[in-house]
Amino acid sequence: MNNVSPTLNVMISAARKAGRSLSRDFGEVEHLQVSIKGPANFVSAADHKAEDIIFKELSKSRGTYGFLMEERGEIVGADKTHRWIVDPLDGTTNFLHSNPLFAVSIGLEREGQLVAGVIYNPASDELFTAEKGKGAYMNDRRLRVAARKSLGDALVTTGIPHRGREGKARYLKEMDLLMNEVAGIRRTGSAALDLAFVAAGRFDAYWEHNLQPWDVAAGIVIAREAGAFVTDLAGSDKMMETGDIIAANPYIHKALGSFLFNKG
Ligand code: IPD
Ligand code: CA
Ligand code: CA
Ligand code: CA
Repeated sequence: MNNVSPTLNVMISAARKAGRSLSRDFGEVEHLQVSIKGPANFVSAADHKAEDIIFKELSKSRGTYGFLMEERGEIVGADKTHRWIVDPLDGTTNFLHSNPLFAVSIGLEREGQLVAGVIYNPASDELFTAEKGKGAYMNDRRLRVAARKSLGDALVTTGIPHRGREGKARYLKEMDLLMNEVAGIRRTGSAALDLAFVAAGRFDAYWEHNLQPWDVAAGIVIAREAGAFVTDLAGSDKMMETGDIIAANPYIHKALGSFLFNKG
């Protein structure tokens, strides 16, 4: 990684420290205390422990910045221009099933613009990082989105609504239309990893609805710095407000975006 700023280093060390805690809990997942936030919406002691570590680490280094965290919610800082957006464990359902597709996600907003992101999967020891204008990396390797131009060749990832989530009718319609158009559709169970994997060229595209800012903040910066177009369904920059997202290289983004927007 070239030229890593002190701020990105703070984010990386917080993500790695939280990742170590998640790894320990992942080895003993059957003993974890789990509570239910809503139908099929779980939170475990591992989520809370990882969030506490991130909160402590980031507060220690940048005491004035605000936070938006999945479990603690919004914490207004003295410095109104900087805000951390944190998902301590993205992919909780996978985690609780001993499935290693999960990650820590930390994004940084400066004056309302996303400027840095870190996504760390401790199970694979893959660290995805990016700062605005400086490129995206996985560990030490520079990332670039896949170069495929045709939707017909594309491997696409998405999130599927589950018990207790809205949007099933729209998904069924989109799936019905898309499955005849693309090379494959996948579901990882982690929005952060979906975006990181688009950045790494492992998926050609990602789309999903009803997301929260902490699911996507870090991934948006990482995917963009790897060359992805990332927008909401209307093609605008309001992914964190609308909860809709499409991320892909510019060709596939256009094809998938107009497909979902016109026909979905
Ligand atoms: C979930 C994951 C999943 C997405 C859900 C999110 P969580 O986050 O990102 O891929 O489809 O919408 O809620 O609850 O595991 O942090
Ligand atoms: Ca959750
Ligand atoms: Ca999440
Ligand atoms: Ca989470």
